[in-house]
Amino acid sequence: MSSSNKITVEYSHLGRSGLVVSNLCLGTMTFGKNEKSYSAIYTSPTQTDEENSHKILDRFMELGGNMIDTSNLYSHGKSEETIGQWLCRNNRSDIVLATKVRAPVGPGPNDSGLSRRHIIQSCQESLRRLHTDYIDLYQMHAWDDSVPLEETLRTFDDLIRGGKVRYIGASNLKGWQLQKMMDMSKYIGLPYVITLQQQYNLLRRESENDEFEVCSNEGVGVLPFGALKGGLLSGKYKKQNGGIVVTSGRLSHASSIGYKSTQSCPALQNYENDDSYWKLMSAMTQMAKNHGKTVSQIALRWVLQKNIVASVIIGATSIQQLEENMASGSGWRLSHEEMMELDTLSQRNNHFVQNQGDIWKSKARIMFPNTV
Ligand SMILES: NC(=O)c1ccc[n+]([C@@H]2O[C@H](COP(=O)([O-])OP(=O)(O)OC[C@H]3O[C@@H](n4cnc5c(N)ncnc54)[C@H](OP(=O)(O)O)[C@@H]3O)[C@@H](O)[C@H]2O)c1
Repeated sequence: MSSSNKITVEYSHLGRSGLVVSNLCLGTMTFGKNEKSYSAIYTSPTQTDEENSHKILDRFMELGGNMIDTSNLYSHGKSEETIGQWLCRNNRSDIVLATKVRAPVGPGPNDSGLSRRHIIQSCQESLRRLHTDYIDLYQMHAWDDSVPLEETLRTFDDLIRGGKVRYIGASNLKGWQLQKMMDMSKYIGLPYVITLQQQYNLLRRESENDEFEVCSNEGVGVLPFGALKGGLLSGKYKKQNGGIVVTSGRLSHASSIGYKSTQSCPALQNYENDDSYWKLMSAMTQMAKNHGKTVSQIALRWVLQKNIVASVIIGATSIQQLEENMASGSGWRLSHEEMMELDTLSQRNNHFVQNQGDIWKSKARIMFPNTV
């Protein structure tokens, strides 16, 4: 991979806002390791320490990237802290900083969710860890049906008015949930969400059926995550003697510790005998050869060329992965025929994946679910 500093991205507006972002956004779930975590992601040997995370951030900026995505959840706050340390010696105004709130961050009944209390507390803690006084894009990490939506939206409005937050976004929603948010904002004069962060890749396309239609109607920009399905679409997991050869990587680590399959850590054994997956990989490998590119770049390019997409959130655990992924951002395209071929090969029976908002459901009795 070239070590030049040639810009490898294009820029676009985020949804119908005036905010301009690179078409590749740096995801930072891989910053920081936490051996005590229950998650195979944060215990993976490929998670990056502060020094390597800072090198990845530096290189991302050199290649033209300007948007960084994190969450108060990632590595139990270490991801935000790592970015905060890096921001101390970089120009804050060059960066569009996105973080999230919603996931449980402590054992208490008010340590999670989208209540006024938890959002304000989480925002203060994120600002402290990030060493900044504002968040560009504050996203609800998932739906919370234990809190009236108006309480959540009014709190976001207050944070915007108080200068702590510039724009709001959402993630892991169903179509009706996003539509309800847009309608309520409209009717009571509150800020709109400008983005929807959703898992979207050649193995997971359900959002096209519903959520992306709402985005298209309402002018919400899509921020796909998991474009490589945690590495499964990079081509590095190969089949030999009937099984998938274990290489290094988050998914190998997850399978070695018997971690249950999740959206960001799909179980490798589920794909061993999945003919449609291997057929897709074989077509992608051929396309990569034809373009002089890698399989990962084909997977990223397919997502990038979807009209609804504002910026693809990439993950990288090394400079080499980062440079490879960034090189999908501009300068070449998949043809219409190639896009059609990938569209056809990726029409599969998607396994039902539980919605994140259901996984984090409140343990308290909910008296009025979804009350306005
Ligand atoms: N809103 C949400 O609920 C949500 C959920 C998940 C993620 N996200 C966001 O999306 C970001 C990206 O998610 P993700 O990490 O799941 O994305 P992904 O693109 O599906 O997977 C990235 C992983 O694949 C491997 N990889 C990346 N580039 C590669 C390459 N060129 N060749 C081979 N392997 C490569 C790396 O892991 P190994 O080196 O370990 O194999 C890397 O960590 C996160 O950091 C986060 O910001 C949001």
